[in-house]
Amino acid sequence: MRRPILAGNWKMNLLRREVERLLDELRAAVAGVADREVLVCPPFPYLAQAAAILEASPIQVGAQDCCWELRGAFTGEVSPAMLKDVGCTRVILGHSERRQLLGETDERIHAKLRCAVKAGLNPILCVGETLEERQADRTWDVIRRQLERGLLGLEAAETAGLVIAYEPVWAIGTGQTATPAQAQHVHRRIRSWLEKRFGPGVSASTRILYGGSVNAGNVDVLMAEPDVDGGLVGGASLRAADFARIVRFEA
Ligand code: PGA
Repeated sequence: MRRPILAGNWKMNLLRREVERLLDELRAAVAGVADREVLVCPPFPYLAQAAAILEASPIQVGAQDCCWELRGAFTGEVSPAMLKDVGCTRVILGHSERRQLLGETDERIHAKLRCAVKAGLNPILCVGETLEERQADRTWDVIRRQLERGLLGLEAAETAGLVIAYEPVWAIGTGQTATPAQAQHVHRRIRSWLEKRFGPGVSASTRILYGGSVNAGNVDVLMAEPDVDGGLVGGASLRAADFARIVRFEA
């Protein structure tokens, strides 16, 4: 079955001392958790430090983005090979903040995803609709397009480490979580799409995370939905006690 993944997206938060403290607290707070995967995604400058602190811990380290090429003249960019080299196992791609604030297109996200897969880094592909798109009844059209373009040309054999994160843009950082039924509805459609695109094996084994104002108080009901396989958590992942409670969800 699908092992749940609880992932913390730290975004552009915390300085070195705070990173150390949060990771120390987190390591202690999630000790003994074995039946779920725990991932933290600190900003680039702290990834190697995080990997060192977490070396003897089951908590994995991931990045929040990567370049679409493995090496070369790309000033300011970070290669997925480098991320892998410093100890990352996963990379978040296509987060709505990057789509909206940095103009990332589906095509660019797709190129990053291909490059991450080539480097052996498992992608977490984020998809999700804005409030206007939901109100215009375009939720599924938008998500299908993001999936089709983001995963263009990917072979079933390349999907082993793939994770999808459904993050409705209107729920990110707003405190307005999707209801469990709203999340389940979209997750179900994503799983059906995966089945048509890659076959039943990939569809049954691919983890689909929900993101958008997940917190210690709503994680249990979200995780109770059959197609919700974990959470991508922003704000609440910056507090050890809250994130530990999310990791220890009871569904
Ligand atoms: P949030 O962020 O939990 O603060 O809403 C989630 C995300 O952007 O991944």
